[in-house]
Amino acid sequence: MTRRPVASLAAGAAVVMALVGLAGCGDGDDAAAPPSTAELSPAAREGATLATDLGCNACHSVDGGGSTGPGWVGLAGSEVELEGGQTVVADRAYLEQAIRDPRSQVRAGYANIMPTTYELTDDEVEALIAYIEALG
Ligand code: HEC
Repeated sequence: MTRRPVASLAAGAAVVMALVGLAGCGDGDDAAAPPSTAELSPAAREGATLATDLGCNACHSVDGGGSTGPGWVGLAGSEVELEGGQTVVADRAYLEQAIRDPRSQVRAGYANIMPTTYELTDDEVEALIAYIEALG
């Protein structure tokens, strides 16, 4: 009598583990929940706060979706196409220029409307880049 539930529990656990194992085979790119702040470095955490306080997140999503501006998940280190057809790697220098001087390079398919009025310190730019890097 008491053995039966135990056996089905064990069977259920085996099924769950098999499913988890299967899910683990994917590259995981589509499950793009933003990292919780506890997982971020101190600089990236400050960047996350800045992105909210400065309103960056009104145009830049951090959950893998699109928005008015390009999403930040997977941006760092990826190849991006600029207006005019040139392709560049979104390395630190690119990200810094995109933040400091948004008019200087424009992503293909997006309007050139990012505000140019932020007066960011080096530390703030550094923090925002750390956050974007932490997103992927
Ligand atoms: C009003 C909307 C808006 C706000 C607010 C905004 N951006 Fe943007 N941003 C854009 C758009 C649109 C683009 C794409 C066009 C371009 O390259 O300038 C862009 C491009 C970028 C890029 C280059 C992305 C890429 O994929 O090449 C970075 C990095 C960036 N923004 C960072 C920021 C940061 C940091 C803030 C806050 C301090 C911010 N943005 C605020 C609209 C916005």
